[in-house]
Amino acid sequence: MKRTHHCGELRATDIETSVVLAGWIDSVRDHGGVLFVDLRDREGITQVVFNPNTNDGLSSELHHLKPESVISVKGIIAARENDAVNTRLATGDIELQAESFDMLNASETPPFPIDDEKGDKVNEDLRLTYRYLDLRRPKNLETLKKRHKTSKVIRDYLDGEGFLEIETPMLFKSTPEGAREYLVPSRVNPGEFYALAQSPQQYKQMLMVAGVERYFQLARCFRDEDGRADRQPEFTQVDLEMSFIDREDMYALIEGMMKRLWKEVLDVDIPTPFERMPYHDAMNRFGSDRPDRRIGMELHDLNELFENSEFKVFNSVIKGGGSVKAFNAKGLSDITEGELKYLTDMAVNMGAKGLAFIRARETGGWKSPILKFFSDAEKAAIEERLNVEDGDLVFFMAAEWERSCSILGKVRLESAELLKKRDRIEIDSSVWDFFWVIEFPLMVYDDEEGRFVSSHHPFTAPVEEDAHLLTEDPKQVRGQHYDLVLNGMELGGGSIRIHQPELQQKVFEEVLQLPKEVIEDRFGYMVNAFRYGAPPHGGIALGLDRIVGLLTGSPSIRDVIAFPKTQKGQCLMSKSPGPATERQLRDLHIQTIVVDKK
Ligand code: AMO
Ligand code: AMP
Repeated sequence: MKRTHHCGELRATDIETSVVLAGWIDSVRDHGGVLFVDLRDREGITQVVFNPNTNDGLSSELHHLKPESVISVKGIIAARENDAVNTRLATGDIELQAESFDMLNASETPPFPIDDEKGDKVNEDLRLTYRYLDLRRPKNLETLKKRHKTSKVIRDYLDGEGFLEIETPMLFKSTPEGAREYLVPSRVNPGEFYALAQSPQQYKQMLMVAGVERYFQLARCFRDEDGRADRQPEFTQVDLEMSFIDREDMYALIEGMMKRLWKEVLDVDIPTPFERMPYHDAMNRFGSDRPDRRIGMELHDLNELFENSEFKVFNSVIKGGGSVKAFNAKGLSDITEGELKYLTDMAVNMGAKGLAFIRARETGGWKSPILKFFSDAEKAAIEERLNVEDGDLVFFMAAEWERSCSILGKVRLESAELLKKRDRIEIDSSVWDFFWVIEFPLMVYDDEEGRFVSSHHPFTAPVEEDAHLLTEDPKQVRGQHYDLVLNGMELGGGSIRIHQPELQQKVFEEVLQLPKEVIEDRFGYMVNAFRYGAPPHGGIALGLDRIVGLLTGSPSIRDVIAFPKTQKGQCLMSKSPGPATERQLRDLHIQTIVVDKK
């Protein structure tokens, strides 16, 4: 019995045709011996009626029809009685009157119901252990389809723009992307290791030197970092690189891609061009390099107000060159002591000396341990500048500018979560706030290392008019770096690259102060390649998992990856990672000592 149609296909126009369907038993209802089975496949559900009264042959077999068993059924399509029409099903006008069926695989009772709503409440570890059952839920299959569609639209778009899809090695060597790497021992080179590629960065630049001009790849990348909702140890980038371009070409290309994606996947028109926000503004106004602008509550700069204030905590920071910043957590004056402690601890862990606040209570006026330090004029100015109304809560932070911004930025996001919990802030799910963050500092000073490190990676070109400051004052140099942000998430990042060997060498040697042997060992081939005719080039990588996550409204990228890893980097279904055998280790010239199994 070979199937003739899928389970989402048959309509009233098919009545009286003889068909064969195959799929999973979604549910079985017994109405006085007549069984109504919802048969499900990837495309939908069709009701199948097994009536032993009109069909003798069936009766002895019907008790085998159990949920999640796989059957094929032959029968005739019939109209449903008027009151039995199911308007929620695309196939709700008809049903299949079964003549015979084959049991293709009888299912045991599954560990959880294959049901979109009930399944959501099932413990995630259990769902991941039986991921093949979890994926059967229609909404998960729908996500896989959307992911496929997303990849296809991207491939078609880039093909149309003249890009070649080229694979690069996953077995690579250490790169300076910043994350910890996965090491792979080499059997034939005892004691030596590959690193799994964190991204195809260096290979794609070599492809530009090779004359490919436009490269892309849906590249698997590996980073041994702690899992989070938007991070997986292995993930996919839409990775691309182009020769003979500037930043404007890149913005236009990616804006076109996003426009096409949102149109084809969601039928939504995204206005372009996207706004561009300098890094300094993003930090100053939102305390983040990937601001979520949908929640409002911008940070204010209060230096000029508190310059000569009585409040030492504030004026001393200002005198020392720092920043006093504040924002109004609108409507959060009823924050609990526990919540306040959580926010304060978080701020202190990020390096704050404290987290000052004023509650503007619904009744009884303002309340705060620091109120006594403020003059009436200062209070009035705070009220006006921050638009403080009864029921609000104002947070203050005094610290060095960047720290002040980033800590308050985090308090702002957490405050938004507290407001969401109280139903006082609503995020409009139809808002797609795309924009570019640009003009990042090329280098940041790393206190631990006692030297400058690249804020993106060391191949990013400086903004031309800043290049002369590279060795004198690296802090002032802006990079030709751009990040694409959507609704508070970094979708992607890239840059125009350095393509002159002298400049690249200078960045490694004089700015980043890498030892000569390290430069030679890690990047020697690159600097060398740039001596043989390297075109000016630039690129970007977008997080495919994050794009699909946003397109499907998924809270975590785990939901859009067929077989994701847990927080601890495990695949619960296949039980990896696991120990290696003595023999395997010997072949790889490896001895293991488990130091601390935690
Ligand atoms: P970057 O490190 O910024 O740049 O990565 C680019 C994009 O990849 C996604 N991403 C991740 N997604 C899921 N899980 C992760 N652990 C993870 N890490 C990164 C993000 C991020 O914006 N080679 C450069 C790009 C370039 O310069 O062309 C690079 O990898 O969406
Ligand atoms: P203190 O006078 O040190 O007790 O501080 C008074 C209040 O200001 C307390 O609520 C502290 O948490 C807060 N505070 C102290 N230092 C800072 C700072 N640098 N920025 C913001 N608030 C601070």
